[in-house]
Amino acid sequence: MKMKVIQTIKELRTELKQFREEGKLIGFVPTMGALHEGHASLVRRAVAENDVVVVSVFVNPTQFNDSNDLVKYPRTLEADCRLLEKEGATLVFAPSVEEMYPEPDTRRFHYAPLDTVMEGKYRPGHFNGVCQIVSKLFLIVEPHYAYFGEKDFQQLAIIREMVARLDMPVQIVGCPIVREEDGLALSSRNARLSAEDRTHALAISRTLFDSLTYSKTHTVAETQTFVEKAIAEAEGLELEYFELVDGNTLQKISSWDETDYAVGCITVYCGEVRLIDNIKYKECL
Ligand code: PAF
Repeated sequence: MKMKVIQTIKELRTELKQFREEGKLIGFVPTMGALHEGHASLVRRAVAENDVVVVSVFVNPTQFNDSNDLVKYPRTLEADCRLLEKEGATLVFAPSVEEMYPEPDTRRFHYAPLDTVMEGKYRPGHFNGVCQIVSKLFLIVEPHYAYFGEKDFQQLAIIREMVARLDMPVQIVGCPIVREEDGLALSSRNARLSAEDRTHALAISRTLFDSLTYSKTHTVAETQTFVEKAIAEAEGLELEYFELVDGNTLQKISSWDETDYAVGCITVYCGEVRLIDNIKYKECL
């Protein structure tokens, strides 16, 4: 089936009505475009697990607390569509800002303490914007399954919470971080790194991997210091935060015994580019 690119909610609903009547399973991958192998892995999984796959490409203004970041966010719809067609997406939904927000969205989502720590603390309003757009998209697409990357670990936890609290009939599927061969976590923001910045950025994933080994014989506090020191000593990087948290509650842990799901979440400025990454120290399987 030839992939269709759709700009309006009305047209998307008409297309999806047909599929729903035929009893098709609908998978959904929300994105902000500038697609890379990380997104491709989400789309591949969605294609493998559903009959129809919708991918949205929309740079959502309400989740940017920094207007400069919004302006600089890469927009590459043509290349995105080529990748999506190759991966077997059925429908691409690429609406305008006016289509999604004919009026300002005044809804407020509060999922404290999940949304008040880490990114919630440093990017006030960010998760409110994410919940505004994701809830709208879920209401339009009404997917059976929706796919999100674990790189945005806190976002995934908050979306799961939103879906549970609002009883939304969608299954959220978290998918592993995709990394370059040298360890750098894939991100649309990597496109903004100079060659020199990119070399500097490698210290982020390297530090996280080293800290995993270190954590086997050291306490939470020692592991925290290990990461902070390594990033402070690395060239061209500035640490915003590194937190060792329980992967379900996102609250800081003080000992490894406290949880069976321990995750380290990091945000680092590399030049002007803000990069996030995370690593699991303990995972409940
Ligand atoms: O993770 C992203 O790319 C965005 O936050 C999302 C989920 C597409 C909402 O705009």
